[in-house]
Order: sequence, then C-alpha cells, then structure tokens
Amino acid sequence: MAAVEEERFNRIKHWAGLPVEAARWCLDMRRDESRLGRHGCPRPVDHIAIARDPKAHLGKKLLRVATRPSDWRLMVSRAKNSVSIARVGETLEAAGILGKLHFVEHHRAHLASAFFASPFEEAAVISIDGFGDFSSVMWGVGRGNHIDLRGAVHYPHSLGLYYTAFTQLLGFPKYGDEYKMMGLGAYGEPRFADKVRDVVRTEGDQCRLNLDYFIHHTKGVDMTWAGGEPQLGPVYSEKLEAAFGKARAPRAEIEQRHTDLACSVQKVLEENYFALLNHVQKKTGMRAVCLAGGVALNCVANGMIFERTSFRDVYVQPASHDAGTSIGAALYVQHEVLAQPREFVMRHVYYGPEYGESEIRPALEAEGAAYTRMAADELVARTAQAIADGKIVGWYQGRMEFGPRALGNRSILADPRRKDMKDTLNARIKYREPFRPFCPSILAEKAGEWFETDYPSPFMVVAYKIKPSCRERIPAVTHGDGTGRLQTVEREVSPLYWKLIAKFDELTGVPVLLNTSFNENEPIVNTPSEALECFLRTQMDVLVMGPYFLLKSENMHQSEKRRTFAEVESR
Ligand SMILES: [Fe+2]
Repeated sequence: MAAVEEERFNRIKHWAGLPVEAARWCLDMRRDESRLGRHGCPRPVDHIAIARDPKAHLGKKLLRVATRPSDWRLMVSRAKNSVSIARVGETLEAAGILGKLHFVEHHRAHLASAFFASPFEEAAVISIDGFGDFSSVMWGVGRGNHIDLRGAVHYPHSLGLYYTAFTQLLGFPKYGDEYKMMGLGAYGEPRFADKVRDVVRTEGDQCRLNLDYFIHHTKGVDMTWAGGEPQLGPVYSEKLEAAFGKARAPRAEIEQRHTDLACSVQKVLEENYFALLNHVQKKTGMRAVCLAGGVALNCVANGMIFERTSFRDVYVQPASHDAGTSIGAALYVQHEVLAQPREFVMRHVYYGPEYGESEIRPALEAEGAAYTRMAADELVARTAQAIADGKIVGWYQGRMEFGPRALGNRSILADPRRKDMKDTLNARIKYREPFRPFCPSILAEKAGEWFETDYPSPFMVVAYKIKPSCRERIPAVTHGDGTGRLQTVEREVSPLYWKLIAKFDELTGVPVLLNTSFNENEPIVNTPSEALECFLRTQMDVLVMGPYFLLKSENMHQSEKRRTFAEVESR
C-alpha cells in the first residue's frame, strides 16, 4: 500500500535513523483507507517489522569481540541504535498503540524483499551486500510463502566491502559511491585484474577477502556525516595502496590507471558474483533467481546473468539497497511469521506520496508562477515536442518512486538522440562526473529492437548491450561499453509515461527517452513546492506537474531570484 524513504521527507540523503516522518505518512495512508471503509481496525497497525536483529549471530559476535576488543566500539554503537529503536517500539507496544514488534535479521529481510515481491512460485534467492547483522551473503530456496535458508557468508568477509574498498581508494568516499566506480570502469581495460584477484576470491558459496588488504576487522568502521551525507571511514589497509598506488584524492584528476583499476575491480567482482550465482544454481537446480542487497544493484553484472549462468528468469528487487529491507521485513512477517499466502507482486515502485491538483495549484499560485492547464493528450503532445526540440523537462506525476531510481513519476527527461545532451545536463542541472551514464526509458514492446537482450527490466537495475546499429541513434544514453541501464515501460503499469514515450516515438522514430531523477544534488523531490523550487533554481526548460505545463521562459523572474540566492549561498 505504501513505502517511502525518510530521506524524502527530512531531505537528508541516505538517512538511516528512526524513520518518523515516513512512518507517520504510511499510517496516514492507512487511516485514509479505513475512513473509506475498506479496513476496519481498532489500532493503526497490527505488526511492526524492523529489518535488524540485535540478537542475530550473537555467539559469533561475542566470540569476535573476545578475540578482537577493538570491535567493541562498532558493535556497541550499532547495538545502541537497535536498542533505541527497540525501546520506542516496545513502549508503544506496551501502551497498546502498536501491535506486535518483530525483529527480522538483515539478510532475511533482503531475501524476503526479493523473493516475496517477485512473480515466481519458486526460485533461488540470494542477498549480497557490504554487511548487515554480521553477514554479507545469504542464500536459499524460495517456495510459496517460505524461504529455506541454505548458506551465508559471515563477517569479516564481504564482496560488497571488497568493492567499497576500491571505490574509496579511487577517491569516491561517500556512502553509495560504488556507482561511480562502476560507471568509470566502462572506459578502462582490465589490466590489473590478476593483481585484484589476490584481494578476493569465491569458493563454493564462500566469498573470502585477503584480510591483509583491509582494516575493518581490526579497526572497525566509522560512519561520519560530511556535507550532509553519510560517509564510511576507510576500510582498506596500507597494503592496498602499496599494491595499487596511492589513494586518489576526491576531485583530483582521473588518470588512465584509475580507469583501468575500476575496470579490473568490476571484472573481478563479476567473476566472484557469477561463481556464487552458479554455485547456488547448481545446488538448487532452480531456473529463476531473485536478488537483493547492495551488490545486486550492480547493473553491469546483472546484465550478464543470462550469458554467464543457467538462470533463465531473474527478479532484482528495485530497492536492493538497505531501504528495501523495510519492505522485506514486512513481507517476512506476513509470510514466514503469520504464514499468510502470497498475493502481492511488486511490479512497480510507485508507493510514495501523491499530490493532486488541489495541492499543486496552490504551490504554483504561491510562487506567482505562469502556467497552463492542459488535458492529457495535449499535455503529452506538448511535452514530447519540447523534448524532441532539445528542451530539458521536469516530469512530476502520480505517486513518488520507492528506491534509488526515478522511473517516470519524479524524473527529468531529455532527448537521447543528442550527443551533447549528457554534457548539457551535467552543465545545467546534474553536475555529475562526466563518465557517469544517463539512462534510457524505452517502450517495453520495443526493447528487443534496440537491445540485444529482450527481457523485462522495469526498474533500471540491469544494463543490457544496445544493438551496435542503434548506439549512434541514442548516444546520450549509450555508455562507454555500449550498454544502457534501461527501464522497460509497460503501458498497463505507467500509462501516462508510456503515452509520452510513444508520442516521442511518433515524432522522432525513437521509442526512448533519457530519464534521470528529479533532483539537484539532493534526495529526489517529493512535494510540488520542492519540484517547483528545483525547476526554478536550475536551468530546466519545462516543468510538467500533474496537468500543469510551465515554461522557464515565462517564469524568468522567479527563476532569477532563486539563482541569485543560490549563488550568494555558494559564495
Ligand atoms: Fe544490506
């Protein structure tokens, strides 16, 4: 019914504290539903699920701390966080405000988020990340409403942390920066792969780090806040620098050796990823696989699953990062604890807040913005034409996306045929590193004409090779390695967005739009005011919000006011 990340309300990227605003909003949704008479319930919720279990692997944790006292600090800070969440929950539970409280181990929640949200009756299920509740990998077999656990990788070994270590070494220190290294790798040669293989290897289902290259297991890992965003302390040792060169300073020039190292790290990640996937495939004999955990957001590796494994069906949880464990924990309780049958398939990510005309219009009026209200057909035609003319369009419609990708409801759209569009977007709005790709949304029924793999990719978590003959037709969304991290848009799932792309196809013969998230170095916009603010502050040309169509050229006054403020602030 509802899913939203706290960062969209408090506007702090990757916020990981108690999600007060998000919980409040979800409860409000529930209240609205009961008012409509669809649910009659005496209290707002019957069960509350938290994707963290302080008691998980307690024996192993204590043993670890006994042998390495330096782990105390990390363990204690994590435990404190869990305990404070638990206390709040238990107090509310005791007061009869909340129903029963459930703690779900981190990776069980990841697994549940992948399998129970998938359309498969049975599948292999794998979760791979940095760490959570002392594990970095967990896998099993999902059948009906149960996942049978078969294996795990425990602290301090982690494929996710291997990737993070090199991301840090390459000068991308922020939480979630792994994307940047993956993007950079597409432009390199894997000439350091042999040396990188000394850092990590996978045997059976066990991903093993060569711990000489790491310090997380001896010194612990600190999470700090820098510039309003979380940042992980270094996890690599001096030996990694000795072997691969001094760490690049953030924003220092990127040399060919950096690019080649990124490429090598990605190649070795893929080797380990597929060793694990193939092991699980052989052990389970399953035809389908469901994936979650931060490493499952590696869209380049995901794009090779059909090529490099015997799996023939795949479902990647769109919120594979830790935010998705909230959905997973809820599904875990629903099926594993309450033994309810499955009836839900997560086919889209539009589970966030929606703002209707009655909220959009006052936001426009308050700003004194010039706008035109249009019927759907005209709105779609005008927008498609603007994009074809090279305009950058803010597209704000319906319910906000859950998870890291904007998928056509809070998106910035542009013409993928223009070679210079990537630079234009970066110069005018996104300010990203030039090697990071922008991604295509394509009409689902036409994906096979443009991509070498014709398999649904509704969530932009898979990169497929673009057919060589098509690459030069959509250069702004073709990455350095000839792939595109695509969103296949289905008519039944996103009718308005589908119509817009179809109209663009009619005008240009290209059923593809460049789609990037509606934000400027901040969490994706949530409210109409935030969207309008972002439109006025940046050099976006057009804003389409609900049925309202705004041109920047008619709103220059408001825009200039904003930009002056922004410039003063940045000085
Ligand atoms: Fe995780």
